[in-house]
Amino acid sequence: MDEKIIIFDTTLRDGEQSPGASLNVFEKLEIARQLAALNVDVIEAGFPVSSPAQFEAVKRIAGELEVIVAGLARAKEVDIKSAYDALRNAKNPRIHTFSSTSDIHVLGKFGDSKYGATLEEKRKTVLKMSYDAVAFAKTFVQDVEFSAEDAGRTDIGYLADIIEAAIDAGATTVNIPDTTGYNFPQEFGAKIFELKKRVKNIDKAVISVHCHNDLGLAVANSLAAIQNGARQVECTINGIGERAGNASLEEIAMALRVRKDIVNYFTGINISEIYNTSKMVSGFTGIVVQPNKAIVGDNAFAHESGIHQDGMLKNKQTYEIMTPESVGVNKTKIVLGRHSGRHGLKVRLKELGYHLTEEELQKVYNAFVDLADKKKEVFDDDLRVLMGDEIFKTEEYYELEYMHVNAGTNTIPTATVRIKTGEEVIQESSTGDGPVDAVFNAIERALDIKPTVESYSVRSVTSGRQALGESIIRIRSEENSFTGRGTSTDIIEASAKAYLQAINQFLLFANTKVEINENGIALK
Ligand code: KIV
Ligand code: ZN
Repeated sequence: MDEKIIIFDTTLRDGEQSPGASLNVFEKLEIARQLAALNVDVIEAGFPVSSPAQFEAVKRIAGELEVIVAGLARAKEVDIKSAYDALRNAKNPRIHTFSSTSDIHVLGKFGDSKYGATLEEKRKTVLKMSYDAVAFAKTFVQDVEFSAEDAGRTDIGYLADIIEAAIDAGATTVNIPDTTGYNFPQEFGAKIFELKKRVKNIDKAVISVHCHNDLGLAVANSLAAIQNGARQVECTINGIGERAGNASLEEIAMALRVRKDIVNYFTGINISEIYNTSKMVSGFTGIVVQPNKAIVGDNAFAHESGIHQDGMLKNKQTYEIMTPESVGVNKTKIVLGRHSGRHGLKVRLKELGYHLTEEELQKVYNAFVDLADKKKEVFDDDLRVLMGDEIFKTEEYYELEYMHVNAGTNTIPTATVRIKTGEEVIQESSTGDGPVDAVFNAIERALDIKPTVESYSVRSVTSGRQALGESIIRIRSEENSFTGRGTSTDIIEASAKAYLQAINQFLLFANTKVEINENGIALK
């Protein structure tokens, strides 16, 4: 009998920890609805104690969806309580609490002598904290997951002890993360096998794995873990996440599906929704999918060489192990234009996975009409970009009202911007090395701000001379980075909008950040 693998999607939590990928509540809700359409088993919706915006997103998602919704919490009462408050209205709530277990983490994070004088004493403290955290979470919900952070580098004897304690305290899922993406598949599989042997009460919980991709092995490690007894995998759409990211959901789901001949596992994933979900996540996070990315990259089903094309014409199976249609790639392009109307737009957006209220639809429609005026044919990718554009940014401190640029050969590029903030309008001009630099300088002068620009890119969203240009910019302030995205048929305007949006994200963060002291107490 084939066994089911539980798909725990953490796009909205670990995925959102990707550098610069901050999502607002509207975007998170849309992604969560699409994850439900994809039929994932668990959605980790965020880390409620970390900010009011995270709390609100978890609360809204939990209140709306039937699927299991998890909220992350450190092994601290304040975190667990906050996770529960956010999940209170969930039909199926899960509290996911975690402690660090490797020696490097234990010594680094619990260095203070109050946690014990020796490594042995500190390990005991962490074990007790973990037990207490699970027991505390259990007073609120039945479904409690415990993660041993950096399990991939944790001594196997200690790992077995802490997992056993967590199950004793009531954990229903025990997660073994390879937090630093350090393991090799065989090694990681053997760890899961060993835990099954060593942990006496292991049959009372589901074994989960959570693999990071630092060595490009996250999916391979997850599959090795499944073959050795794991029955839940934690993964993200497009494999986004901390540093090199997490195991990619679509790759795991398709590997298990395509190689049914050698593995006896299945997932409940509705694979025809994979492509829409990937596009939505990429559009909202601003994290572009690499063209050669398995399953969802632009080239995943492209056949370039003559020999390959010839083979495909004769028999698709020569070079295709799955069809693009099976994962929802639609090879026939649907084109909308100015005369498509509100209804046509609504239907197409729904097919692409967006669920809009009438008010939201009206906003998109206005932007769509503007766009259709500038470029006659509006493609799916244009619509996705419109959805990810600033029309759904909930908090806008600054808005570009007007921009004028003068540039050319043998002239000094100059730019004037007019920026609106509430009732106030600020206007400034500046020169620069090029037109984009001049606009950025004018914005910085107007707002008296000079963030570090970490990355800046412009690309055309669809093909042709009238293509919509999308600019993505990442700025940094101390340890945090913020992404802004702007679109326009004019790439300088797109860049200006992207820059302002990144600044808006930074200001939103700075104004709503919750400072937590070392005892887990929120300071403001
Ligand atoms: O990578 C990790 O260890 C995590 C845990 C919080 C599960 O994200
Ligand atoms: Zn992680």
